[in-house]
Amino acid sequence: SLSGIDLLAEIDRLRTERNAVILAHYYQKPEIQDLADFVGDSLDLSRKAAETDADVIAFCGVRFMAETAKILSPDKIVVLPDMDAGCSLEDSCPPDQFAAFRAQHPDHIALTYINCSAAVKALSDIIVTSSSAEKILSQIPHDQKIIFGPDKHLGGYINRKMGRDMLLWPGVCIVHEAFSETELLKLKAQHPGAPVAAHPECPPHVLDHADYVGSTSGILDFAKSFPGDTMIVATEPHIIHQMEKAVPEKNFIGAPGADGNCNCNICPYMALNTIEKLYVALRDLEPRIEIEEGLRLKARTSLDRMLAMAG
Ligand code: 13P
Ligand code: SF4
Repeated sequence: SLSGIDLLAEIDRLRTERNAVILAHYYQKPEIQDLADFVGDSLDLSRKAAETDADVIAFCGVRFMAETAKILSPDKIVVLPDMDAGCSLEDSCPPDQFAAFRAQHPDHIALTYINCSAAVKALSDIIVTSSSAEKILSQIPHDQKIIFGPDKHLGGYINRKMGRDMLLWPGVCIVHEAFSETELLKLKAQHPGAPVAAHPECPPHVLDHADYVGSTSGILDFAKSFPGDTMIVATEPHIIHQMEKAVPEKNFIGAPGADGNCNCNICPYMALNTIEKLYVALRDLEPRIEIEEGLRLKARTSLDRMLAMAG
């Protein structure tokens, strides 16, 4: 039993003893964000994982993020507090079906959102995150045919914004899919003038009402700089913790789902990680991410292109 153990003190002791770095995504619980060595978006976390000189990476995020860390830093031990922390986008894109899709479009390159399995990364040419997708796409000639997966909303948003015609895999993020346009309009009416910041994983009927669209780090930057005192946040609500820390005098409201509150937009996969499981992962160095070397090298090629093109 873990009762009676000072988990925060033990995590600190183990972090030093194991020479571990604790990386956390903005969608993690506030208590995890607060003890992490670094909190960031998917691209920032990939860069940190590639650069760290720690021996152990304790990844507080979802499995595809921890896999990315292992692909980029194969000599490190990478632990994920809960191995069931998946992602609906990853689930929507089984590697065999993705391979068949590619085979049907042999003249297309595959530009792929980082929210996918290592096997799908290995089948892709270039990986992107929401913070790097536009910069990377702008380096690809307009006449190049492209398939984009697995997030159709991110792909559709970039197609519209950049005048592209990428062929889209039909995946969605269940969290961003759950925002209600009707409830959002009601909330806007209650807070006249409050800007809406939205993640591009949101469907178009939500993005249509956004004053700012960007990655989690982009939304956080917007929160630090928007004029006014109230902002509506259309992404996973745990990021509001960082906004409240950075700009405590301002008011951040999570965009609602159909039930009128923002709790249905908590990512159920991200929520599987807890302080208790993080402690056990640092103590036992389990559960550990392992990736077969041939697969890792193929996935690494598409991730390296992302890191190079994202600058
Ligand atoms: P970013 O932090 O890169 O914007 O990704 C959001 C997300 O949904 C991660 O699962
Ligand atoms: Fe996947 Fe959506 Fe959760 Fe991100 S928020 S991990 S995209 S299900």
